Amino acid sequence: MAGSATPAAGTPETAWQAVRALAARPDGAAVRARLDADPGRFARFSHRGAGLLLDLSRTALTEAVLDALLGFARARGVLAFRDAMARGEAVNVTEGRAALHMALRGPPGAFTADGEDASAAVHATLAAMRGFTEAVHAGRIVATDGAPFTDVLNIGIGGSDLGPAMVTRALWRPGAALRAHYLSNVDAHAWDELRARLDPRRTLVLVASKTFTTQETMTNARLVRAWLAEALGEDRAGAQMAALSTNLVATAAFGIPAERVFGFRDWVGGRFSLWSAVGLSVALACGWDGFARLLAGARAMDAHFLEAPEAENLPLLLAATEIWHVDALGYPARAVLPYDERLARLPAHLQQLEMESLGKRVTLAGAPVAMPTGPVVFGEPGTNAQHSFMQLIHQGTTPVPVDFVLVARPDHGHAESHRILLANALAQAEALARGRSEAEARAEMKKSGLPVAEVDRLAPHRTFPGDRPSISILLPALTPESLGALVALYEHKVACLGAFWSINPFDQWGVELGKQLAGGILPVLSGNAGASDAATAAMIAEIRQRWR
Ligand code: F6P
Repeated sequence: MAGSATPAAGTPETAWQAVRALAARPDGAAVRARLDADPGRFARFSHRGAGLLLDLSRTALTEAVLDALLGFARARGVLAFRDAMARGEAVNVTEGRAALHMALRGPPGAFTADGEDASAAVHATLAAMRGFTEAVHAGRIVATDGAPFTDVLNIGIGGSDLGPAMVTRALWRPGAALRAHYLSNVDAHAWDELRARLDPRRTLVLVASKTFTTQETMTNARLVRAWLAEALGEDRAGAQMAALSTNLVATAAFGIPAERVFGFRDWVGGRFSLWSAVGLSVALACGWDGFARLLAGARAMDAHFLEAPEAENLPLLLAATEIWHVDALGYPARAVLPYDERLARLPAHLQQLEMESLGKRVTLAGAPVAMPTGPVVFGEPGTNAQHSFMQLIHQGTTPVPVDFVLVARPDHGHAESHRILLANALAQAEALARGRSEAEARAEMKKSGLPVAEVDRLAPHRTFPGDRPSISILLPALTPESLGALVALYEHKVACLGAFWSINPFDQWGVELGKQLAGGILPVLSGNAGASDAATAAMIAEIRQRWR
């Protein structure tokens, strides 16, 4: 592992050349040989923080590679960027804002932004959220007919949906005070499906939108409001709604009373907003204690990120490993496989967190980036993934590094099922790293009695190249604390990667063009305007022939 004394930073160019030189060696990408040569690899390439264990031993990292990557981190000022972020500086340079999601789970007085105590506003909102949650659970805040709520519906999209939906999926347990539902897509089939399961007289509706202008969310909010109004009366619909937003003017214009608006500041990015008022559905569905423990887990990871030495710093090591895979070895994608069904929505959350943050092609200074940035991120829970895309990861032409997320202790009593689940996860990691050589494939087929001609014919198909890297993250159990730490780990990895690549991980201009064009195409679909793009015009003509 890298030495404990921190050497001075070289230039980014020389530091990067040192990394590249190691990757260019004939054994630069070797994983199997490293595992075989060194049974102590796990001990030296696994690290602990905030209750999590991160195993990097099934990669081609060596001490020399890590030293070089940490040298590159120093040259790019990765930890200086972390410190600037924690000081509340405007690290989101294209929007002139801080990125202070750590303040959302930090202790009182810990963070400032624009010279103000950022934590004070956070804790005032947390107190209001807690009061509201406990009043709903105690039956002091009830539906308009005086009966308790049974369901909460969160309307939001992107960061106003994915984080809370993922956490609720992971932490909700039968017997909880409320069932939670999430409506994100503007496709009204989604609303029709939900509506069939919900009773307007028992449903508390949250409209979650940082801007309160997002077309999909506002369209759905109007549909749902009309549904409430039809059942309760126009004047009573607002009484079963609350808003989670930074835009208090728009929430008032929508008719949501001020005492039902839970705010946050613009220094909370949408994909980092789970810990803010946007997490209210989590608190309502999983209990205030569950939400508070989630924040505590994230806070523990924040402390680790801010304090752990660079050679043991989990987010920094995870980011450095990504640089190694994406830039040094040229692997353009990564899969996330949680081996826990309750984490089924984790890949979706990470897709937004990572790809919206790191899908950038220019540096902070506006120049084209010199190296590939954010990889494609995708995933599914194991073991389902094994029967889906894992074929390509084992035998496709380009290695796709995998993040395995394992949970040691289940919350069910079916020990054999859990053993099978974990055995599969461990087997996948082993198979990717070790592969099966042609000689091994031949020997196995011969042993099973296949004729020589068949062995010859099938040997190439049954050979696994191996040297396919993976990392594993072990949670002791799926608790609010371990989940909070896990999500915060990925958030901080994203911030580190932003600094490694000198890109802004906190803006998302790339989503704007499509939004603008959709506004122009809407009247074309209703036949009130002409399209400016010929292919769009032709497709709209086809649609209009079939849907009048
Ligand atoms: O997709 C773009 C985006 O701005 C995301 O960054 C954000 O999470 C999502 O839209 C929803 O935005 P809002 O919370 O403002 O409705």
